[in-house]
Amino acid sequence: MFLKNSWYVAANDHEVGRKPLGRVLLNEPVVMYRKEDGTVVALEDRCMHRHLPLSMGKLDGDKLQCHYHGLQYDGAGKCVRIPGQDMVPPTAKIRAYPVVERYHWVWIWMGDPALADPAKIVDYHWLDDENWGARTSYLHVKSNWQLIVDNLLDLTHLAFVHETTIGNSALVDNASVKVTRGPEEVQVTRWIVNSPAPPTFVKAGGFTEPVDRWQIIDWRPPAFIRLDVGATPTGTGAPEGKRVGGIEMRNLNAVTPETENTCHYFWGQAHSWDAKNGALSDMLLGQIQMAFLEDVAVFEAQQKNLEMIKNPPQLDINADTGVIQARRIIDRLHADEMAAIQRPQAAE
Ligand code: FES
Ligand SMILES: [Fe+2]
Repeated sequence: MFLKNSWYVAANDHEVGRKPLGRVLLNEPVVMYRKEDGTVVALEDRCMHRHLPLSMGKLDGDKLQCHYHGLQYDGAGKCVRIPGQDMVPPTAKIRAYPVVERYHWVWIWMGDPALADPAKIVDYHWLDDENWGARTSYLHVKSNWQLIVDNLLDLTHLAFVHETTIGNSALVDNASVKVTRGPEEVQVTRWIVNSPAPPTFVKAGGFTEPVDRWQIIDWRPPAFIRLDVGATPTGTGAPEGKRVGGIEMRNLNAVTPETENTCHYFWGQAHSWDAKNGALSDMLLGQIQMAFLEDVAVFEAQQKNLEMIKNPPQLDINADTGVIQARRIIDRLHADEMAAIQRPQAAE
């Protein structure tokens, strides 16, 4: 199940250039390229003639030429040239998707183009804010996209999946947790006060004494999860809103379904201290990437079981509160989308 009427991250900005890039998004083949003036185009990756992916073709100025028999399409998806004939039928057109380049990512709207409002793009400004140091990365994951949302909304797994990197048992045993929900958002706040810092935090912040650590998870549909995480020495006032003498980061995730069973996992890590220190940005990205590979092993193993055993009964625990709220919102939005599609048909 996918929500179509949403912006999604389709690519990192540096992936899209003058060589067509083909990528499947929400079960639809899409081809992206840059026009000569640098603007990004996203079209259906299928030639009208005999269905070859246009990403196998090449650019002629701003036009994309099919590799097979040379049909050419403009940036709006209109066929503008058919070799060997003067007449191009007006119906020769493929789908063009609205795209916006923002925060070093290329965003695409997969649903009704009339609803594509760039103001609805979720804020990821930390990725290109000069007051923050940041790096982005990408993982291809062989699992349904919702397994990643579940994972990021329940960080108790850090104590088990990531015990050698970003986790420790204090995360589960000493945490105070609050879950809040709006019509289209869920926030999970965890405070772990007066506890030892985990290995990555010791490496990044040089902590030798206990810390007050926070994890504030903000989810927006379908799969945007922004984590505000950090720690300060215990007793310096972080729980009351005073963040001094410690470290503060944003872990920024945007998951885009590829198929029902695979997804594109775009993510970045930003840090507020020493913003110009590229080596620090690289180190943090490397540490988190190591942890994320531990997560990917979990997602892909879950997915295998879910494909073998359809709809198995499952147990919910207290830690799932945020996960359940988010799933309810997604189900409601999906039902709304389906109802909106069916309404005009019913009226016919
Ligand atoms: S399949 Fe594209 S031109 Fe024939
Ligand atoms: Fe994880």
